[in-house]
Amino acid sequence: MNRKILIFDFDGTIAETGRGIMNCVAHALKRLGQPVPGEDVLRRFIGPPLYTAFRDECGLGDEDATLAVKYYRERYESGGLFEAEIYAGITPMLKALRRRGTYVAVASAKPAKFLTRIIEHFGLTPYFEKVAGADPSSHSSDKAEQILAALPEGAKPGDAWMIGDRCYDVDSAHSLGMKCVAVGYGYGSEEEFARCGADRVARTVAELSEMLLDGERPERGRMITFEGSDGCGKSTQMKKLAGWLGERGYEVVCTREPGGCPISEGVREILLSLDSAGMSAECEALLYAAARVQHVQSVVLPALEAGKMVLCDRFLDSSIAYQAYGRELGEDFIRQINRKASELVVPDRTLLFDVSRATARERMAQGAPLDRLEREAEDFFARVARGYDAVAEAEPERVRRIDSGRSVDEVFDDVLRSIDLN
Ligand code: TYD
Repeated sequence: MNRKILIFDFDGTIAETGRGIMNCVAHALKRLGQPVPGEDVLRRFIGPPLYTAFRDECGLGDEDATLAVKYYRERYESGGLFEAEIYAGITPMLKALRRRGTYVAVASAKPAKFLTRIIEHFGLTPYFEKVAGADPSSHSSDKAEQILAALPEGAKPGDAWMIGDRCYDVDSAHSLGMKCVAVGYGYGSEEEFARCGADRVARTVAELSEMLLDGERPERGRMITFEGSDGCGKSTQMKKLAGWLGERGYEVVCTREPGGCPISEGVREILLSLDSAGMSAECEALLYAAARVQHVQSVVLPALEAGKMVLCDRFLDSSIAYQAYGRELGEDFIRQINRKASELVVPDRTLLFDVSRATARERMAQGAPLDRLEREAEDFFARVARGYDAVAEAEPERVRRIDSGRSVDEVFDDVLRSIDLN
């Protein structure tokens, strides 16, 4: 398979845009005073040009179909456009293709201005050499024009492969003498692919990646850890970042320490239980280290090796802050007992959330009952804060401090600035 030039369809191939499209179709039909069909019919609007779909699926005449397209676009433009999600695994695949020097472009029946906006919104602009959308006034169901526009200067269509999820993609590619991979995770069906004679079928994004990248292993994923003293708001930010990355086509694993897998969650219970009041500082440190190495071996490392993004609520820096400094066990001892875990993984980026003790206490008072560590005295937390200062000073490139005494959205802007995605 010649993998040097790849032209991707967008809806159903790169992005799951169905919800937004169906919402806008329903809106247009309502405005026209037409009945809104069930989801099975609405789904058929995903992929083909709108005018054709309004005509064929709802039996609209020329004038009504043209008006329906106008009403559709009004809602679409004012937000429906972003009611979408990039399929998990697409972004790492596009990155890997770019690294290999493959020419990658998009050809879609979407009007060019929407296509460009949505690609920009989801951070995919750097991965496409060309983005070819449709002329909104054209009612043609043939995508050949956009495919030709997406090809590199002087390239012969026969040298390129199309990747799409509907018969429109396969037929248009074939009409130009191009081959086409049909993807089964989008809006088409196996039956449709058999009928139009797709050259290859990839049922999942993983299968497609394997096909396009010749089975090359995915680039190791990245690990981002979230640190800070209790009540700093890091868990809220981690959830928000997971949602943001998920929409942008990353496979995300959210996990936490102590815990993250059954054995380590068991250790967590012992560590945080009020029944463990008599636990020695050394026992505590060793239990955190034990939970960590198990978690790294069974969850973190496999996810990173599969190219996933790992977001972890606390990691080794917590042991430095709480046990080395808070419990005054010293860094050497803590690093020594965590050596195995550190040999396996080091976070690519650590976000350290700074918050005043007063705000942290206030936030904790509103949350769940305090656990064993949260009940510690103020001087313990002062030492924990010094531990975090030491960590941030020692590794300024990895550890980025974020002032979390602000609104969730303001803090999140800083989170995005601190992760250096590309
Ligand atoms: P958790 O309820 O997860 O606290 P938070 O929501 O503040 O993260 O409990 C984890 C507690 O364990 C927290 O008080 C910090 C402490 N801890 C350590 O002392 N050492 C460690 O290595 C880790 C991972 C956590």
